[in-house]
Amino acid sequence: MAAVFALFLVAFATVLGSSAADPDMLQDICVADLTAAVKVNGFVRKDAANATAEDFFFTGLAKPGLTNNTFGSMATLANVGKIPGLNTLGVSLARIDFAPGGINPLHTHPRATEIVYVLEGELDVGFITTANKLIRKTIKQGEVFVFPKGLVHFQNNNEKSPASMIAAFNSQLQGRVDIALTLFAATPEVLDNVLTKTFQVGTKQVDKIKSNLAPKA
Ligand SMILES: *[C@@H]1O[C@H](CO)[C@@H](O)[C@H](O)[C@H]1NC(C)=O
Ligand SMILES: *[C@@H]1O[C@H](CO)[C@@H](O)[C@H](O)[C@H]1NC(C)=O
Repeated sequence: MAAVFALFLVAFATVLGSSAADPDMLQDICVADLTAAVKVNGFVRKDAANATAEDFFFTGLAKPGLTNNTFGSMATLANVGKIPGLNTLGVSLARIDFAPGGINPLHTHPRATEIVYVLEGELDVGFITTANKLIRKTIKQGEVFVFPKGLVHFQNNNEKSPASMIAAFNSQLQGRVDIALTLFAATPEVLDNVLTKTFQVGTKQVDKIKSNLAPKA
């Protein structure tokens, strides 16, 4: 019995170990052919002989993203969609800029843990565990914070000056589920009676949130 249990533990640890990030690659490089029509888990790769330095290069994080939007923040992604050479490598970056008072609203990354480094300013950040415990801290320039894979989190700039951070992910394509938009701005709409029962409020309150979050025409 003990032997069976030990075997189970080893098998479980192996599964955990192999799913800690994107799957391992099987060759030196695997540059994504972003235009290929074939669908695979990840991206089809182009001929290795055709790879160039441009496939591994991106300038998009050099400048602040535009923060003149509803939430006063902008996440600029440097993942496989921008850097085809990241295909199968299991890592990516982003830069997040915040206007004074801006927020990167409650969201999760289904495929990655996130570790951030504050470039400028001061941010109130936090995540919520599956035990419903809020882990929260104010972080400033030069400091680092971690958001575990899949957990709901936020970064909020309560200051009168802008802020920015670099985020790293253990996935080539971390994915993002925006809590408010997922629930109140999906297409087609999540039915009102699903939301009224979920939030224990009336249709009026649900419709108010839906209209606030609807894309501005
Ligand atoms: C590699 O580049 C050559 C020259 O541009 C092109 O003819 C060929 O189709 C490319 N191969 C692949 C697999 O993309
Ligand atoms: C944000 O600012 C940019 C550059 O100043 C401008 O082109 C853009 O239209 C603005 N967007 C909004 C939603 O105001």
